[in-house]
Amino acid sequence: MLSLDDRIRAAAAAPAYIYDGETVRNACARLKRDFPDVGFLYSVKTNPFAPVLREAAAQGFGADAASAGEVEKSLEAGFAPEDVYYSAPGKTDEDIERALGKCRIIADSLTELDRLERIASARGLTLSVGLRIHPDFGIFSEAGGSSKFGIGEGDLPEAARRLREHAHLRAVGFHMHLQSQLLDVQALARYYAKSFQCFERASELFGITPEYLNFGSGIGVVYDAASEREMDTAALGRGFALEVERRPRFASTRLLIETGRFVVCRAGFYVTPVVDVKSSRGTTYVMVRNGANGFMRGAVANLVLSNNPNARDLQEPFYTGKRSFKLLAMKADGRFLAEDPETVDVVGNLCTALDVVAKGVQLPAVRPGDFILITNAGSYAATLSPVRFSSLKPSAELYLERPGGKMLEA
Ligand SMILES: Cc1ncc(COP(=O)(O)O)c(C=O)c1O
Repeated sequence: MLSLDDRIRAAAAAPAYIYDGETVRNACARLKRDFPDVGFLYSVKTNPFAPVLREAAAQGFGADAASAGEVEKSLEAGFAPEDVYYSAPGKTDEDIERALGKCRIIADSLTELDRLERIASARGLTLSVGLRIHPDFGIFSEAGGSSKFGIGEGDLPEAARRLREHAHLRAVGFHMHLQSQLLDVQALARYYAKSFQCFERASELFGITPEYLNFGSGIGVVYDAASEREMDTAALGRGFALEVERRPRFASTRLLIETGRFVVCRAGFYVTPVVDVKSSRGTTYVMVRNGANGFMRGAVANLVLSNNPNARDLQEPFYTGKRSFKLLAMKADGRFLAEDPETVDVVGNLCTALDVVAKGVQLPAVRPGDFILITNAGSYAATLSPVRFSSLKPSAELYLERPGGKMLEA
């Protein structure tokens, strides 16, 4: 949690996201300690705020970029081109040309391989490419489902054939990702083991010792301490190390895991002022500035749950679950309020009834001029919010280097 002094400064800048650098560094340190054989990639899409990217680069992470724009942001933040992995479905020629020479490109389909060959050939280049594989298994099932991502495992022989024909392409790595936000060590350990086997089959087929194998994301965070248990990353790391030990053929291969959420989710807080409090037919509305257009997760959760109260959690990244963030009431002097709790709807100031931050929550009595602080707002929060809606001034973003320290604006 932010210190009193930092909360006062956050309130003065509100509506604003504040990301706590110390929490980011601790998360990175924990992953590096628990997975000594692994290189981590920070998933830029989670939170592309430049100071967060710079911190991830400074911690020795590479970048998982999901667009040419994210490739460029990563380079600007200090990631070396060889540490930036660009993997996304539906890349256009323009995306590919923009990314060439700036990163490692991971092909997402058979046609993309053809397109990469055409572009490389026109430029007289030999391009090292990775392939994203959609495996024949699921996280919780033996059989794989259909997916818009990657090259189906069954299509790998055809991919290998095309690569033999494509004189300007060289396969150098493989990527896989099925699901993020897992807290089940067994499920993720099983996924790693099966991924290793799939990567072995692919390496045989392509006749290569891969330069890198990217296992994608999966390590989750606890959003609600009352109902979830922290993942034992040390145990997961030990399991991963055993899989590595069994595979001398990958001794020179860079083993990569992606994560954005684990690094930054809990480091983020959204602080926004209460602008009005009103009552209508028995409902008290606490209205804040930049609700859905600052922090959209609440509106999506409300929409999902009002249409289906038993909705499946983990419709990521838009809807994580019923209790994926907490609201705290705060005075401008940083003190938390605790008195006179009542049941209220916290809403935003957009001209739509869907602009809901949280419905029917218990909150201490607040007045205009007080603040609402939202936790777990570091990942898939600012980046998912429709900031252009209604032409309201967007919320600020600040990076707190250390408690009481400088707050960076970009
Ligand atoms: C391919 C890929 N890598 C990484 C991530 C990021 O995962 P996380 O939610 O753990 O930050 C995602 C998220 O969906 C993803 O699709």
